[in-house]
Amino acid sequence: MTAQPYDLVIRGGTIGTASGTFQADVAIRGETIVALGQGLASGTRDIDATNKLVLPGGVDAHAHIEQVSAGGLLNADTFESATASAAFGGTTTVMPFAAQHRGLDLREVMNDYAALARRGAMIDYAFHMIVANPDAKTLATDLPELIAEGHGSIKVFMTYDLMKIDDEPLLDLLLTARQGQALVCVHAENHGMISWMGKKLVAKGYSAPKYHAISHPRGSEAEAFTRLIAAAALIDQPIMIFHVSTEEGAAVIRTARGQGLKVFAETCPQYLFMTRHDLDKPGLEGAKWMCSPPPREKSDQDALWRALALGDLQTISSDHAPYRFDETGKLSAGREPNFKQIANGLPGIETRLPLLFDALVSQGRPEFTGRGIEAFVELTATAPARIYNLPRKGAIQPGYDADIAIWDPRRQVTITDATMHGRTGFTPFSGRVVTGWPERVIVRGRDVVVGGELKGEPGMGRWLRRTGGWAATPTGRLAPEMDPATNFGASIL
Ligand code: URP
Ligand code: ZN
Ligand code: ZN
Repeated sequence: MTAQPYDLVIRGGTIGTASGTFQADVAIRGETIVALGQGLASGTRDIDATNKLVLPGGVDAHAHIEQVSAGGLLNADTFESATASAAFGGTTTVMPFAAQHRGLDLREVMNDYAALARRGAMIDYAFHMIVANPDAKTLATDLPELIAEGHGSIKVFMTYDLMKIDDEPLLDLLLTARQGQALVCVHAENHGMISWMGKKLVAKGYSAPKYHAISHPRGSEAEAFTRLIAAAALIDQPIMIFHVSTEEGAAVIRTARGQGLKVFAETCPQYLFMTRHDLDKPGLEGAKWMCSPPPREKSDQDALWRALALGDLQTISSDHAPYRFDETGKLSAGREPNFKQIANGLPGIETRLPLLFDALVSQGRPEFTGRGIEAFVELTATAPARIYNLPRKGAIQPGYDADIAIWDPRRQVTITDATMHGRTGFTPFSGRVVTGWPERVIVRGRDVVVGGELKGEPGMGRWLRRTGGWAATPTGRLAPEMDPATNFGASIL
């Protein structure tokens, strides 16, 4: 008997990468892709992928899972439910948030959160560290140690009463990140504008969910981006701006990148497929479409697609932030809340890839004509893996983890609340019809979803140790105030 050279061969499909598509078999040994080629020898198992697209599993770099939110509420999803839901939607790596609220010890937060992930996750994961308590121990001890241990990114909020940090602690944080070479991710909106607008609207009786969209003025995004970028430029610290929602916000980022600043940015399906009108529903129903920043206008959607095509924005994440439409979630303040009392956030970990596949591959967004598959792979897998320094993820290539989604490009699916696998109980994308669906999802050579059936098990996901990598490396171009050659010799950084 001859030994099988491969454990698994995915045969006869079209491979999609960020730079092109080609017909090839994919051979996997253990957890790793070992060969691509035509007519490869049989494996212990062969999967027929004729007429299918064989794509890297998605990397969702922004998802709130089993976390106490910026509003103080626990997400509806556990690691088990969120990662199962992710896998059903073709995602094989996720980056959730270990959240240090005020008064909490970051080291303890990380230990507790890692234990939850170890128990529940079915796909691989790396953490962002949310810092809302940048005290001396956090800055001088915990962050440097945790970064060195393999947590290469930090997240901060410039808004939300419970989480926001002001300009001075933001500078402290940027400096600490620079010293450890971690990427700083930011929820950037002008807190004062949002808070003031919210109070004015509620006081005048405008309390329905749709007024949430009005309470986050468009300018609050561009203003916070501008202030954040100025702070990052002063420290020479690379940043990632989360969930860009407006045309003006994208323009601020384009300008900064044009100046050579290391500013990365993402947007999310809710800003590409929804508008503020989605919140305009009878009663409290619009709460299901409430997230921060809110969905904007059709013209913003078009501007964001353009910004993605030009590379001003580099990734599309879900910002999965699941809350049930009941007293545990959206209605936790009772049956008659004003919009300020309703949790912000949408479930989206399962719908991110099908919505984007439909738009980019099946419908063919005009900004990406001729490279829809490549753009889909780049924006949802390859770019996030590169930016967040996950070297074995986000591509189908020998030496990479065998994280693969096999897509049926012709399958038409109507997204409904009932077809979702998370614990939120609804999806804001209910009723949308998409063409293209991931029918088999594999993590490190193991089936997690096959033909709509869950095969993965809690605990099979693995934590991904990572440094900040290339994206987090400072440019070395110092602001004049920081350069001893131009600041009278002061050494600050
Ligand atoms: O509305 C949202 N996005 N909620 C989640 C928390 C955040 O802003 O990241
Ligand atoms: Zn945010
Ligand atoms: Zn978020």
